[in-house]
Amino acid sequence: MEDQAEKLWEMMRNKKALEKSVSPQNEQKTRIITVTSGKGGVGKTNVSVNMALAYARLGKKVIVMDADLGLANVNVMLNLIPKFNLYHVIRKQKTMREIMMDTEYGISIVAGASGFSKIANLNEKERQEFINEIETLSHADIVIVDTSAGVSDNVLDFIAAADDAVIITTPEPTAITDAYGIIKIIATEIDNLNMGIKLVVNRVKSAADAKKVADRMTNIAGQFLNLKVDYLGFIYDDTMVSQAVIRQKPFMVIDPKCKASLCVQHIVGRMEKSDTRERGGFGNMIKRFFSRAAL
Ligand SMILES: Nc1ncnc2c1ncn2[C@@H]1O[C@H](COP(=O)(O)OP(=O)(O)OP(=O)(O)O)[C@@H](O)[C@H]1O
Ligand SMILES: [Mg+2]
Repeated sequence: MEDQAEKLWEMMRNKKALEKSVSPQNEQKTRIITVTSGKGGVGKTNVSVNMALAYARLGKKVIVMDADLGLANVNVMLNLIPKFNLYHVIRKQKTMREIMMDTEYGISIVAGASGFSKIANLNEKERQEFINEIETLSHADIVIVDTSAGVSDNVLDFIAAADDAVIITTPEPTAITDAYGIIKIIATEIDNLNMGIKLVVNRVKSAADAKKVADRMTNIAGQFLNLKVDYLGFIYDDTMVSQAVIRQKPFMVIDPKCKASLCVQHIVGRMEKSDTRERGGFGNMIKRFFSRAAL
């Protein structure tokens, strides 16, 4: 524990020195957004990639990090075959910056590691080193972290390190129950409850249906967990989404005016309005991560 504290202080000192050497305009203000869900297959990767594109349209420099260490699929969705991925970072063969790939869509990606179930749960030291590596992405305005479904220690670390946790659910009762489950775990396991917990209801038939799901969820979280969950918005069930997945191009690229694209742009607009990051940036992210590691 003392080692960790010492390491943290050293990092903070280094960061302070670095900050002094840059002008205020260059101050790092990277917003880290973790996209997660209780149940699998509810749309995390689609939301992550297409939100990134919506942010890019606003002129932001965005990186999507595929933090799924078991079944990565951001690169599949973009028809990219990365030479290196997070496996190589974890194995210390490459740095995060070295494996980052630019795409033709104006966003960059950090590919996840597929098929390495052995490393899907990292040990404490590896997790710390890994989070430290993320700091090297601080040149971006936005880092969107697409996680695997459910609750592993890795996923909780990513959530703890983020400025915002975007929870995705569909209107299906199983997805809602599992989304509530993950919100409950966030409430009990994570110390950083300044973080914005945000809800997106995906694959809905109507705005009213989405609102019903969101109201239920936000009320229960408020009542039983004393936790504020912000309803960020919904995404229509849209055949364009699966067509885009099959064509391995984001739906925001194929048709920026389709229902799903308009919803995602609306969601990013709401995210922009809810940017409350005086507390943000990578220094704080490291601090939050360590406060969780020290629990
Ligand atoms: N809004 C939508 N309209 C229609 N289909 C959708 C929508 N969102 C997601 N889908 C369908 O659900 C599938 C799964 O989406 P996605 O891969 O983004 O989910 P995921 O949560 O990342 O899954 P996993 O837990 O396996 O990582 C998509 O391939 C698509 O067919
Ligand atoms: Mg996914």
